[in-house]
Amino acid sequence: MTQPVGLARGLTNYGDPDFALYLRRSFARSMGYSSELLARPVVGIADSSSGFNNCHRHFPELIEAVKRGVLATGGFPLTFPTISLGEVFLNPTSLMFRNLMAMDTEEMIRAQPMDAVVLVGGCDKTVPAQLMGAISANRPAIGLVAGPMMTSRWHGERLGACTDCRRFWARYRAGEIATEEIQEIEGNLATTAGTCAVMGTASTMASIAEALGMILPGSAAIPAVHADRLRAAEATGRTAMHLVRSGLTPERIVTPQSVENALRVLMAIGGSTNAVLHLTAIAGRAGIDLDLGQLNEISDSTPVLVDLKPTGPHYMEDLFAAGGIGAVLRELKPLLHLDCMTVAGETLGQRLAVEAGPVDRSVVKPLADPLQPKGGLVALFGSLAPKGAIFKRSAADPKLFEKEGRAVVFSSLENLSARIDDSDLAVTPDDFLVLQNAGPLSASGMPEAGYLPIPGKLARAGVKDMVRVSDARMSGTAYGSIVLHVTPDAASGGPLAKVRDGDHIRLSVAGRRLDLLVSPEELARRSVAPPPVPERGYAWLYRHEILQADRGCDFDFLRKQPLGKVLR
Ligand code: FES
Repeated sequence: MTQPVGLARGLTNYGDPDFALYLRRSFARSMGYSSELLARPVVGIADSSSGFNNCHRHFPELIEAVKRGVLATGGFPLTFPTISLGEVFLNPTSLMFRNLMAMDTEEMIRAQPMDAVVLVGGCDKTVPAQLMGAISANRPAIGLVAGPMMTSRWHGERLGACTDCRRFWARYRAGEIATEEIQEIEGNLATTAGTCAVMGTASTMASIAEALGMILPGSAAIPAVHADRLRAAEATGRTAMHLVRSGLTPERIVTPQSVENALRVLMAIGGSTNAVLHLTAIAGRAGIDLDLGQLNEISDSTPVLVDLKPTGPHYMEDLFAAGGIGAVLRELKPLLHLDCMTVAGETLGQRLAVEAGPVDRSVVKPLADPLQPKGGLVALFGSLAPKGAIFKRSAADPKLFEKEGRAVVFSSLENLSARIDDSDLAVTPDDFLVLQNAGPLSASGMPEAGYLPIPGKLARAGVKDMVRVSDARMSGTAYGSIVLHVTPDAASGGPLAKVRDGDHIRLSVAGRRLDLLVSPEELARRSVAPPPVPERGYAWLYRHEILQADRGCDFDFLRKQPLGKVLR
């Protein structure tokens, strides 16, 4: 029996399918649609615009363009809202709600009558949430990302969210910038629609989505306000209809090979540490286990090619002008699995066989002459992080790569903010700042707090970088010698919870090690109080089901193959 299409799909259960279809058509007609449109295949458009999401403020225009493409190819476009995650508007942190958005997206794709879906997202957690949901729903799906913001100017200097946000804030903290000036900068950091202008998490996830084959070739880096973004939206609508006809589903696109391609791109673009979590969670939805050992192998064999902030001088609009992710993929070609299928209905190899335009070598370096010979991210293991931690070596000071230091411990975010600028804080530039209870199981929900500020008195003395260790995340727009995602986290009773002021920690990036130099006997004597468990609602579900960073912080029951309590 052939599968019903369009509005005849997945009928509401009244015990009489003919009645259900008649009623559905009748109610759909109340919206003024013609019978001709109602008989077409349906393309759902997941709209994540919100008054609480500046990055998505152009979505009404983008979605109109998607609809044009669907209508022009014989489909019937219907939008539906999902949760939106505006990075800076959520408390305690947007990551906590990524899985909720993924559930919303998955269930609405499955519950509503659509033959394919266009996922319109952009801000940090929205793209991974949509991909996770769409993979689990496994209906033909294509992403459309917001595109990056354009840069702005301040006193002749180019500004782009949000590496420059942090750069100027650090200068303000160090007393180099006056209050009036930081207020002026505040008004100039983010001035257009779109996602952060640097290679932060949103840009990294857009690049990864293109490398995975889940958005149209060439569409990751198009600025949000560029006419090409609207053309990409229209083409996305058209492609959604091709997906309806071909039946190509995300599970055939997101494979171990395409995930490996995405990891290569992550390394080559010097992408965000957050992307490791998200890609792990996305892969887990397709039944693929991405482990941190594999990350190290890929990192060691993939050079950094793209010179964007936070590590270089350029912005996403420069990467677009330089050839976009296509230019990066062409350089990486010898390292990629070229037989991976993409939403465009062609393989990656077929895509890359098409002749390329000129490439700006100041932004995208050739494989033979890379910016750095090895990838930007490494995983560390050791007695302080038995299940791993992440270090962004491309954003760190190599002088701190091999170092032993004395721990200065902050037991929580509140404790950090209360003490970091205390002039009596016993701290030197050679110490390691350690933040506890900022991991996935903590009440703070793994915030982007791993970029611990340099203590006020050291910042004023000119100290720019120190080793910082935590179970938190870091914004993709930040930089410094920062060890993140220490797993297991402190709230689950991991070794990080047992670090005390004055303990010694050894970091070896070359050895991929992070060790707490305290005897097991002494550690056994130190007790750790578990955090309180929320009593109800989503916070309760989160606390019971959240997996650690090495599993991408997905909920166990949402993975294709749940691990169960024992294996977590
Ligand atoms: Fe939305 Fe940075 S705040 S991408």
